[in-house]
Amino acid sequence: DVLLRLTFDNVCMVALGVDSGCLKPGLPEIPFAKSFEEATEMTTIRFLTPTAIWKAMRFLNIGPERRLKQSVLHVKDYADSVIKVRKAETALEGGEKSDLLSVIMRLKDEEGSPYSDKFLRDICINFILAGRDTSSVALSWFFWLLEQNPAVEEKILDEIHRIVAARESSKAEKEGSSKVVLTAEEVKKMEYLHAALSEALRLYPSVPVDHKE
Ligand code: HEM
Repeated sequence: DVLLRLTFDNVCMVALGVDSGCLKPGLPEIPFAKSFEEATEMTTIRFLTPTAIWKAMRFLNIGPERRLKQSVLHVKDYADSVIKVRKAETALEGGEKSDLLSVIMRLKDEEGSPYSDKFLRDICINFILAGRDTSSVALSWFFWLLEQNPAVEEKILDEIHRIVAARESSKAEKEGSSKVVLTAEEVKKMEYLHAALSEALRLYPSVPVDHKE
């Protein structure tokens, strides 16, 4: 649950530039996250139900299809409201943000027109969907494997300590960087951690089958 909350907050920040707040103290229930989860679960049910049956349920608006429709509607509404607010903010303050939504809003399509709100919404929702479960499943296996392999955990901790200790203290103070917040450059130096994560993905891939192949 905590890792799913973590990846949901992260991917929402990357896609929409908003903190969904799943990791706030007390781990509150976030309606957007709940609807996202429900939409994912109800979609999975389609794969387990004969096509004619789920299509009939969709037509009659009953069972999981009813819940799917409601949750998808809520997810879309939430994304639409974020897009609306961002457009208003951009009109007032200009566009500096670097989340996916803000970046695509500044781009133009092949005809030189801005992308439609529906396009922006679908891209962002697809991004959240692509990043959420994949990362949380990968992290769950990663920590499970670490628990089985304390020597590996020790080496990862050593690597982190070494890289944090190598910081020039004056530079760190000037930039206000904290001991617990790593910079992108520091993370890039963590080769052992990278290898351990890759090995966890090799042993327990988050996407074991490519349905498109
Ligand atoms: C352990 C983590 C992840 C794994 C194992 C993973 C795996 C994959 C795979 C197998 C594909 C399909 C590639 C293909 O069609 O050939 C894919 C597509 C994609 N991934 Fe990831 N991914 C991960 C994390 C993320 C994250 C964090 C994001 C975004 C922040 C992301 C965004 C996307 C997007 C946008 C696509 C394209 C989706 C589409 O074709 O509709 N992924 N990923």
